[in-house]
This record gives sequence, C-alpha cells and structure tokens, in this order.
Amino acid sequence: MSKDQKKLVIAIDGYSSCGKSTIAKDLAKVLNYIYIDTGAMYRAVTLFAMKNNLIKNKDIDLKRLKELLPQVKITFKKNPVTNLNETYLNGENVEKEIRRLDVSNKVSMISAIGFVRERLVELQREMAKEGGIVMDGRDIGTVVLPDADLKIFMTAKPEVRAERRYKELKEKGEEVSFEEIMKNIADRDHMDTTRKESPLRQAGDAIVLDNSNMTPEEQLEWIIDLVNKK
Ligand code: DC
Repeated sequence: MSKDQKKLVIAIDGYSSCGKSTIAKDLAKVLNYIYIDTGAMYRAVTLFAMKNNLIKNKDIDLKRLKELLPQVKITFKKNPVTNLNETYLNGENVEKEIRRLDVSNKVSMISAIGFVRERLVELQREMAKEGGIVMDGRDIGTVVLPDADLKIFMTAKPEVRAERRYKELKEKGEEVSFEEIMKNIADRDHMDTTRKESPLRQAGDAIVLDNSNMTPEEQLEWIIDLVNKK
C-alpha cells in the first residue's frame, strides 16, 4: 500500500442521489484527504442566479450571468462542530439553501452552460493540484481530472436513489412527495447524460460501483480496498 507515500487524486462520478458525497466524504476522512463536492459549486452558481433574478421559468439571462460570474466566489469551510465542509457563496454560508428542491430543479440548466463549466472546472483543477483529494461530480474522471489515480463511477437503481433522497429531505423538514423526487431524479439523469457540455458518462478507466444493495460501510470498504492496491 502506497497511500502513505503518495497523495492520490481520487475522482468519483455518477448519477444524482446515489450517495457519491457520503462515500467521498467518508473516504476523505479515512485517508485524511480534502473533499471537494463539485455539485455544491454548480448549486451555488444556481442559487446566485436565482437570487439575482437571472432565471425566469426556463429562461436564463446568459449575458448578465456571464458578466456577473467573475463576482461569484465559492469556498468551502469546515464546520468546527460537525467537522464537515460547508459551502460559502461570497462569504455567506449557503450549505442549507443549495440543497433545497427549488435549487435542485434548476441546477441542471445552469450546469449545462459552457462558460459556467469552464470557470468551475478551472477552479476545481486548482483545488486538486496538490493531490490528497477526493472530488465528486459528473465529469471529474472524464474532463476535470482525466489523470486521476483512481476513478469510480457510481450508480444505483432510480427508485433506491429516490427513496434515499426522500428520507434525507423529510428529515430536513422539507415538504416533498416521493413522486416529485422520482421526477426530479429522472429529469436530472436525462439532462446530465444528454447535455452537450461534458455529459455524464463513465470514463474508460473508471471502476463501476452499483450500490443499490450496499451499505455505506460496505462501499467504503470496497473503495479502500482499491486505494490500498494503488
Ligand atoms: O451532485 P449534485 O446533485 O449536488 O449536483 C448538482 C447538479 O450539478 C447536477 O444536476 C449535475 C451538476 N453537476 C455537473 O454537471 N458536474 C459536476 N461535476 C457536478 C455536478
């Protein structure tokens, strides 16, 4: 095992709500690596666009978004109580807001915009430069970090993913129906895999993890095993 000598770059991609961030967070903790949630970055830009009234139904004011994008500062800071990274948008903690369903419903539109992706990919590469990182998203193994030491592609049955997401939002007190969640997941899968800019797809050298019937502990063990072989 070489993880003590070399700080690896680990890319985790996959469908929405299949537990990527749970496993990525746990893995980063065990290895003492930095965890970067790139979905949170797309969500933060979406929230920024919503707050600045740049989204009207299905229309986005692209010209204005392009002008304002350089003003969008996204950072992660550890919450000292939970020890978890939280997302900040221009200095404001937006970790809760970016997980709301109204943000989830709009994020695919924002993440399909080429100039938004260009900017965020640049930031993500900068964050990964020193190694010792676990980054999760949709295009990490294919576009952001094509030379990553380990690439995982996660998937799970849509109804299993919807059930997990439903429980999560209910626990946070959001009023949502299971059908609404199923629809959001199906819509996002469709948009993420069919969009022109960096669609979600498995990198040729990625290893598939279908976690439909696995606990988080089993998944972690499975990945650590792969890390140990590096
Ligand atoms: O992982 P998530 O559900 O929080 O991601 C939110 C959205 O951002 C999702 O609809 C796809 C998009 N996304 C992306 O296009 N590329 C990434 N690297 C990460 C997320």
